[in-house]
Amino acid sequence: MTRTDRYYVTTPIYYVNDRPHIGHCYTTLLADVAARFMRLSGRETFFLTGTDEHAEKVVAAAAERGITPIAWADRNAHAFQEAFAELNFSNDDFIRTTEDRHKDKVDAYIRALKETGDIFLGDYEGWWDGSQEEYVTETTAREHDFKSPVTGRPLVKRTERNYFFRLSKYADRLLAHIEANPHFIAPEARRNEVVGRIKTGLQDVPVSRAVDPNDEAASWGILMPDDPGHRVYVWIDALFNYLSAVDTDDRRAYWPADAHVIGKDILWFHAVIWPCMLMAMDKALPGCVYAHSYWIREGRKMSKSLGNFLDMPTLRGYCNEFGVDAVRWYLATQGPMGATDADFAHGRFVEMYNADLANSVGNAMSRVSNMIAKYFDGALPDAKGVTEYAGHDWPAITNAAVESAIAKMNRLDIPGAMQDGLSIVRRVDGYVHATEPFKLAKDESRMGDVAAILYHCAEALRIASLILWAAMPERMEEAWKRFGTPVVVGETPLKELAQWGRLTPGTPIEKGEALFPRADAEAPEPTPVGDPAG
Ligand code: MSP
Repeated sequence: MTRTDRYYVTTPIYYVNDRPHIGHCYTTLLADVAARFMRLSGRETFFLTGTDEHAEKVVAAAAERGITPIAWADRNAHAFQEAFAELNFSNDDFIRTTEDRHKDKVDAYIRALKETGDIFLGDYEGWWDGSQEEYVTETTAREHDFKSPVTGRPLVKRTERNYFFRLSKYADRLLAHIEANPHFIAPEARRNEVVGRIKTGLQDVPVSRAVDPNDEAASWGILMPDDPGHRVYVWIDALFNYLSAVDTDDRRAYWPADAHVIGKDILWFHAVIWPCMLMAMDKALPGCVYAHSYWIREGRKMSKSLGNFLDMPTLRGYCNEFGVDAVRWYLATQGPMGATDADFAHGRFVEMYNADLANSVGNAMSRVSNMIAKYFDGALPDAKGVTEYAGHDWPAITNAAVESAIAKMNRLDIPGAMQDGLSIVRRVDGYVHATEPFKLAKDESRMGDVAAILYHCAEALRIASLILWAAMPERMEEAWKRFGTPVVVGETPLKELAQWGRLTPGTPIEKGEALFPRADAEAPEPTPVGDPAG
């Protein structure tokens, strides 16, 4: 099997101290849409997400509650798994850094890097941001008045004897790689930022923290091989998950990952440190590191201090009111995939729901099935080989949309690919408007035209639904059922499924309830469902 037949997509692994919120769900949704689309395209796909559990904060949070760190981690990892199941994410695995399968691999990777001299012992002095568990550079520290750029808490000066990774050695190779692979870091604005910063010079980075072997908290994490006085820095431990999860005989062929989907806050680790570590290990680099921007809420930044995080109870409220797929659609198509932040605003949600789903996808499907019910007793009519009518060359139209969606998904342009699906639906609307089958049906001699028009509409909508499925699996599977064309994902590749003319005349077309009932623009925000803390 060649590389292009496989697809491996990852999300960041999330800190177990947080409750899942829109940010985690969004990143994971993007990976889910990509994974689903690739599976439907016929690629052997592996989609990985999980939790990052070895942070010092976990020990403190568990102690506050009088439970063990692992009990606390179990509880919260579970909350992520539940949230992701509610949103219908199709991850093939969920890795936790506390699992032996991960810890054993990290030990082996670090041993190998010590062996080659890429990891060595040295001294480090710097500004420590305890709230983020990371060092910030002297410049950043100054710029932020020696406070954490993220949380505003004071930075402290720390000196440590640490193990370091020889990042400086790889700067030139990394720059050459970025130049030779324009999509390696996306979107482009992010790539330029990274390139600019690499050019100012790369310093070796610490990869361990000194610990007191007698301190109980020190046992939380992965100890440096042959040196119990040091623990692997949580970020280094975490990055290895992308490799450790597939470093088994049955999964090894998935490496390198095609896409690491992340948020802009963690780009440096993914686009610089991780690729250099991979070079040091003599491993192939991922195809793309895609760093999206942030969701804000009703025009305001979300933060713990404002207490306005769009959390699971809020998202669940939306799912209950509009359906999971409507939430997935809004996030996937209106989200901050580019270099600017996006606003989750209730008014905008309802506007897009009505415009894209109720008035377009849902309306076109019910209109077409209603006419088939009325004029052809609910059985799909025969277009008798006519594929072009009233200036609409349907095979060409649908083919172009599918090709375009595939090309866009290959560069993770998820909103663009979804618009290709929607564009077919809009063409169907325009076609019905232009040809007026409901008027033609009054004249018996024109029933052949009506049959051709309705076949074209149904077939075009079926093809649109294949593209839209990645974002809206539940509703599109319902549409497949109604159109009598259930799809076994991965069995027949998308290009073949999307060939014009696969719908068989005579197939019963079910009417059913509206796929996306129209929403009242004046109605208030849905009530949150469930306990925000639990
Ligand atoms: N554990 C690290 C990642 C290690 S990956 C080897 C971490 N975890 S996190 O729980 O803080 O999750 C960070 C991710 O959540 C960000 O990269 C981003 O994907 C997402 N988001 C957090 N807040 C967000 C928004 N307000 N909007 C969109 N996504 C944001 O960092």
